[in-house]
Amino acid sequence: MHFAIKIRTYFFLVRGLTLPYAYTNIVAIHPFSIPQHISSSFTILAAETSMEVSQSLLPLKDRVAIVTGGSRGIGHAIVNHLQSLGARVAINYASNSTQADLLASELNASCTTDHHPQAVAIKADVSDPEQVKLLFDKTEQEFGSKIHILVNCAGIMDQKYPTLANTAVEDWDMTFNINTKGSFLCCREAARRLTRDGRGRIITISTSLVGSLLPGYAAYVASKAAIESMTKILAKELKGTKITANCVAPGPVATELFFAGKTEETIQRFVDGCPLGRLGEPKDIAGIVGFLASDAGEWTNGQVIRVNGGVVV
Ligand SMILES: NC(=O)c1ccc[n+]([C@@H]2O[C@H](COP(=O)([O-])OP(=O)(O)OC[C@H]3O[C@@H](n4cnc5c(N)ncnc54)[C@H](OP(=O)(O)O)[C@@H]3O)[C@@H](O)[C@H]2O)c1
Repeated sequence: MHFAIKIRTYFFLVRGLTLPYAYTNIVAIHPFSIPQHISSSFTILAAETSMEVSQSLLPLKDRVAIVTGGSRGIGHAIVNHLQSLGARVAINYASNSTQADLLASELNASCTTDHHPQAVAIKADVSDPEQVKLLFDKTEQEFGSKIHILVNCAGIMDQKYPTLANTAVEDWDMTFNINTKGSFLCCREAARRLTRDGRGRIITISTSLVGSLLPGYAAYVASKAAIESMTKILAKELKGTKITANCVAPGPVATELFFAGKTEETIQRFVDGCPLGRLGEPKDIAGIVGFLASDAGEWTNGQVIRVNGGVVV
């Protein structure tokens, strides 16, 4: 859709003629440069054909992605971005079906291709092995396809920001259950069943706090540091499968998770600490995920990529 709007060239399907570009049967000519006698031998299918061409330009066309924690915040932006690149997306969430359903229906309504549905909302707690398996099963069933891309975005943070000495065992366990065990379970399922045709991509989400090591984040950062190490080893273990595994580590991003429990002063300190003088927005993170998910991202493998506007270098 986006490409279709941007590409203002008209495309003409040649009827019965063999042209150098005949394998696609499509030739692009600016409308004002076509002499009348030539244009009469073309069947002008501008609208439909520009849609076909725009679809074929989409780097994730015909690919199926799961985005865990895709209903809100960074995951929401990643879902939007992957879909704009042509992917069909399973939007996973834990409890809040309203936002996930709304996003799915918006994406399905915006799409005019044959590929329906474009998006589905699937409830699953990523810390539960059975629910993770069902998430993958349902995604395959809904889209009638193997899965190509996993983006493991679901995560939580203890909004009390306790020192390690004051961290409750229950809070430590919950953080590790959802962030670390959840990533492990989703990565394990993906390693077993993502497509092995060169389009398989696993993208985990950590945090740039692994670099800055701020007090008050011990459980959260430890849970994410484990994801970074796990992702690097996974990339090596996936040798021979053509599946890549990378980790994206955002800095502060303006989402519910970031704002929860923080004072105005604390938030301002994060803004002041950024060379670009602002918080990240969810879409600032989605771009790199789209790149890693694409063919162009193939050679980036086993890496942790910090995306933070320069907050942590
Ligand atoms: N925001 C930041 O500053 C920042 C910085 C670095 C890294 N990150 C990481 O980026 C990821 C997304 O963060 P965010 O700020 O976008 O968070 P968010 O706005 O709070 O969104 C969290 C998402 O995760 C889902 N979720 C939570 N627990 C889940 C579970 N057990 N199973 C499945 N889904 C679950 C939520 O679904 P429900 O709505 O149903 O609960 C929601 O879709 C997290 O991994 C976070 O650690 C965030």
